[in-house]
Amino acid sequence: APAQIAVTGLAVMGRNLARNLARNGFRVAVHNRSQARTDALVEEFGHEGEFVPAADLPALVASLEQPRRIIIMVKAGEPTDAVIDELVPLLDQGDIVVDAGNAHFADTRRRENALREKGLHFVGAGVSGGEEGALNGPSIMPGGSPESYAALEPMLTKIAAHVGGESCCVHVGPDGAGHFVKMLHNGIEYADMQLIAEAYDLLRHVLDLSPAELADVFREWNTGDLESFLIEITAEVLSQVDESTGQPFVDVVLDQAEQKGTGRWTVQVALDLGIPVSGMAEAVFARSLSGDVVRRRAAAGVLPGPSEAKADVDRAAFIEDVRHALYSSKLVAYAQGFDAIRAASEQYSWNIDLGAMATIWRGGCIIRARFLDRIKEAYDRDANLPSLLVDDYFKEAVANGQEAWRRVVATAASVGVPAPGFAAALAYYDGLRAERLPASLIQGLRDLFGAHTYHRVDREGAYHLDWSGDRKEHTA
Ligand code: 6PG
Repeated sequence: APAQIAVTGLAVMGRNLARNLARNGFRVAVHNRSQARTDALVEEFGHEGEFVPAADLPALVASLEQPRRIIIMVKAGEPTDAVIDELVPLLDQGDIVVDAGNAHFADTRRRENALREKGLHFVGAGVSGGEEGALNGPSIMPGGSPESYAALEPMLTKIAAHVGGESCCVHVGPDGAGHFVKMLHNGIEYADMQLIAEAYDLLRHVLDLSPAELADVFREWNTGDLESFLIEITAEVLSQVDESTGQPFVDVVLDQAEQKGTGRWTVQVALDLGIPVSGMAEAVFARSLSGDVVRRRAAAGVLPGPSEAKADVDRAAFIEDVRHALYSSKLVAYAQGFDAIRAASEQYSWNIDLGAMATIWRGGCIIRARFLDRIKEAYDRDANLPSLLVDDYFKEAVANGQEAWRRVVATAASVGVPAPGFAAALAYYDGLRAERLPASLIQGLRDLFGAHTYHRVDREGAYHLDWSGDRKEHTA
């Protein structure tokens, strides 16, 4: 019998996705550029389901029922284009090509457009959850045409993670919408991790807690509002002891965070959309700073810090304050992330259901968290919510935590521990709620040096002041 779906690219993510499909009862054709991987998959895991190994792409295509469904799981960028170019001439009208890698959504839009002109469907599907998720249930964010989704839905919703009986796979929208939302997921992942790292750093410096003691703090936090995969694995990493030295694992790991690019893309795209995503931006910058060995080496131990590097705080109270700072900053990061999704959805006419995005992320993915239910509920209450922060739940959560949050940012500044994520989130919050912003002064300056004009609070129209002459106001 012909295969129902194919996976090409059998590195760990592709292999696990293929196994997941097979375990769920689908007949999967499998292919890899070097055949050893295909053979190894069938040999090791052949008993898990029905695999149809293919030696090359023509064989893979020939093994499939029509319309064909082919998942590409290779490196983003040129390798993806190379597979698409080789595949397309082999396909027939109506066939569906799925890119499940971490593609940039602009590439996905280009590819979708090119394949659509040939009568083919191209589905850019975000897949999150790492190796484990790919095998046991990832979070899936497919873009592309409704027809292509209809053909994929029974399979994708089945292999995805499930929370409360609901699948963590929802059609996001046309062309690049799925990969855009996956990119945002990663941006939020960056922000989440940065905030967790700041909480750890502050608690360690101010309270002199050991990594093992801090693991207990995170374990405790994981029983409340902060409950999430990332908090859970933070406790795991902090309690790990290095085998060769007996030191805490976090102390033997080089403190230079790497990045493959999705966080950076998120910030770049948000800049173009004009959406402040300061939480994600600070997270990307903090990683860049950590990796900037030359400047760190020149400054460490050279640039003076505050004279008082300790804070006089009560241990339990400070832990609770940091928990509030972390949660409030996290709420801001998500609010900013959803603003970016909304803005892109408008710009590209994707018509994305924001509440549904929170549903996709409740399970399977890296940012899975209890609090995502709150986002869903917020959009259920008001689908046109201008910002998550003005939703009643969010408003109250931040109101409860803000005094603590302010104390933490102040303490961080006074002891000289960097907390760019906490501080930027607080500045955004205060900027958002301000009745008046000093932007009026900026407008005045722009008008003075460049006749860039300004608008008034009391009248319509654009104005310019004759700064160098009689200082009279003119309509521009
Ligand atoms: C996921 C992850 C995954 C990505 C990591 C690493 O959703 O499963 O986001 O796609 O590989 O986030 O990204 P960085 O190397 O940029 O930290």
